[in-house]
Amino acid sequence: MTRNKNIPDKKYSWRCSPNIAIVKYWGKLGGQIPASPSVSITLSESNTETSVRWLPGEQGVDFLFEGKPAPLFAQRIEKYFEALYPTLPWLSIHGAVIRSTNSFPHSAGIASSASAFGALALCLTETHLDMGGVTPEEFMPFASNLARLGSGSAARSVFGGFSLWGSTPGISDSSDLYAIPINNIHPVFTRMHDLIVVVSDQKKSVSSSRGHDLMNRHPFAAERYHLARERVAAIPAILRSGDMDAFCRITIAEGLGLHGLMLTSDPPVNLLHPLSVEITRLAERFRAETGLPLAYTLDAGPNVHLIYPDEMADAMNGFLENYLNPLSSHVRLIHDRSGIGPQRMSFQ
Ligand code: PMV
Repeated sequence: MTRNKNIPDKKYSWRCSPNIAIVKYWGKLGGQIPASPSVSITLSESNTETSVRWLPGEQGVDFLFEGKPAPLFAQRIEKYFEALYPTLPWLSIHGAVIRSTNSFPHSAGIASSASAFGALALCLTETHLDMGGVTPEEFMPFASNLARLGSGSAARSVFGGFSLWGSTPGISDSSDLYAIPINNIHPVFTRMHDLIVVVSDQKKSVSSSRGHDLMNRHPFAAERYHLARERVAAIPAILRSGDMDAFCRITIAEGLGLHGLMLTSDPPVNLLHPLSVEITRLAERFRAETGLPLAYTLDAGPNVHLIYPDEMADAMNGFLENYLNPLSSHVRLIHDRSGIGPQRMSFQ
């Protein structure tokens, strides 16, 4: 079906944001299949914008990031494309000119692979749509599946708001192959903030692939996967009912639990910074003293994400002034929030 069509001579261009996991994806089976399901919020202010132009009859990837060659990422894209040949046969007979920029600095401590592979997967899926290989109805699961094959957590970034990836008991449309959006949520969860407290912008000493690998012989792996399934299964009802306390409990337990898993890996991985611990303590004190539902989480790095609903935005100024202020010269703040999801940038 796709063989007879010529690839359109146009620029495919998408903007996609990273996401912050509420229930973490940590541990994978072969072929980028998650060992347990996960849920995240896709952000909006930080984003990657990627454009692709296809060169019929050519080979290879001409890739510039922020206008400059980025050979390591170019190689990763070439490998990714080769792995996609069975799914996207036209890919093997086209070269690609790819340009990509991030709205956030590389040193912001925000994982950019989710937004990068999300944006690229959307360009690939739009091309495949033009080639007649996918229907408009199949577009989003197809894009999420392609994003997953580039970087697991990217599967969730092709949707705005909350999304869920991984087969979950009781959620019949959930899948290990692609994420699904979580709809019908209480208004309090529709405008979430993520205030990222950057304590270190050093490159991670342990990659997330290594972290996933360590789960294969982790003494608590079975319990972890069971717990993640239970938590993910509980999330849609929590979001529907507006149960902010339950949301905070899960978000906090997951962020600290992820580091608990890393600390108890063999060999142990300690990605915490003394300031990470200090900030989580300040958030706990603020929660106890104000009674406000301030959630926090950490990914596989030392930066702390403070997660709260828009209704708390004013109260958070009090947190910055009265709690975080003594640390202000040691940290950097990046303010992000949930959004509507990826945007198509090309209209020609
Ligand atoms: O998508 P990966 O392979 O970079 O793994 C992401 C792992 C975490 O960010 C720690 C958790 C998550 O679910 O995003």
